[in-house]
Amino acid sequence: MLNTPATQKLLERRVKSLGPAYVHFYQEPVHLVKGKGVWMWDEDGRKYLDCYNNVASVGHCHPDVVEALYRQAQKLNTHTRYLHNSAVEYAEMLAETLPGEISIANLVCTGSEANDYACQIARRVTGNFGLIILNRAYHGSTTLIRELSPEIRDEAAPDYVYEIDAPNTYRGRYSGDPEAFADHHAGLVDEAIEVLKDRGHGVAALLIDSIYDSPGIFAPPPAYQQKLFAKVRAAGGLIIADEIQSGLCRLGDNYWGVMDSGVTPDIIAMGKPMGGGHPLAVTATTPAIMQEYVDRGGDYFNTFAGNPVSAEVGKAVLEVVSRDNLLANVKETSRHLLTGLNALAEKHDIIGDVRGKGFFLAVELVRDRTSKAPAGEETIRAVEWMKDNGVLVSRIGWDANIMKIRPPLVFGKHHADLALETLDAALTAL
Ligand SMILES: Cc1ncc(COP(=O)(O)O)c(C=O)c1O
Repeated sequence: MLNTPATQKLLERRVKSLGPAYVHFYQEPVHLVKGKGVWMWDEDGRKYLDCYNNVASVGHCHPDVVEALYRQAQKLNTHTRYLHNSAVEYAEMLAETLPGEISIANLVCTGSEANDYACQIARRVTGNFGLIILNRAYHGSTTLIRELSPEIRDEAAPDYVYEIDAPNTYRGRYSGDPEAFADHHAGLVDEAIEVLKDRGHGVAALLIDSIYDSPGIFAPPPAYQQKLFAKVRAAGGLIIADEIQSGLCRLGDNYWGVMDSGVTPDIIAMGKPMGGGHPLAVTATTPAIMQEYVDRGGDYFNTFAGNPVSAEVGKAVLEVVSRDNLLANVKETSRHLLTGLNALAEKHDIIGDVRGKGFFLAVELVRDRTSKAPAGEETIRAVEWMKDNGVLVSRIGWDANIMKIRPPLVFGKHHADLALETLDAALTAL
């Protein structure tokens, strides 16, 4: 029992004041009070290695980000109905990182808004209403996006939503054969298009993660996205890449994960890492799509989106990512981390699979490697054990048996070594 009487008291006050809708990550919640780089401290001064938080992309409380926020907050904070340099400068900087023709950035505040607005654009531009998503996906919390988030939706999907199987590279069919795997999933898109048509809906968009988080962190072969995108486009739909988790260098090869497959979507939704801890998100698209959206009567306003403080924060994050070459750090450190995780898989039979890309990794725990029976209880115990021993990771999947490792972009090899040692000890202690 790590929680102190003060923490217990705060927990009671939290339920009373914030209500019971919020959940905690851990069975015994961590009461954090401070963060710096890849470290966080609780109220008792215990230090935790953060192997989980992508929002603090350039590390917790990065001085450049804090300084940018403070500098602009002292001067002025307004919105996009006044002319101001900051949002323009931010959009110009961001455009330098974007693939293909995508060069327009509309600033929003959350990932949910970024996806919601992306769907509105797709519907207006295509004149279609149908949306294709993947099972167990999570894309956010607005009313529309909740309908597109089977991970949290407990009601039936509306008839304009069609859900296809996620590309499960561990348990799915054809996982050893990239072309057959891609063809199988592209076939599911054909089915989706047909069913939507029978229900009276054309395809407005495929909304798709560039690495599949909620179902269990799957990085399918490039042919997968190539074939799916082609099918949707042939049916008149747009491609919305949800880069809210996978974006901003997290996968280690490109700024945006979708670029790893050599394809360009029509719209990219960005969020979590963009403000280094500050609420900043973006819906980015091509000038042609944005023009078409406006020509067909579309517009956008959101009071806080594009405010100068958020834009200055966003600029500072992009500057740090570029100046400190964090893309290269992700690639190099991730290689080290993956080598270590694969070595642990040799030692611990409970590790059924190690997968993912960059700083978006999964360790799937199973009771038996042949049956792949999920080791959910053991995963919970291992994650709690690691937390009690100063390393924060989390777990996902239908059976909560997939350990998720997704550290800030500034995570180094010595941090990886500590995480690996702690994981080794946690699995030994099971
Ligand atoms: C892939 C993905 N898309 C969208 C969202 C929604 O972002 P937000 O919580 O900022 O609204 C999330 C948040 O967890 C996410 O992981």
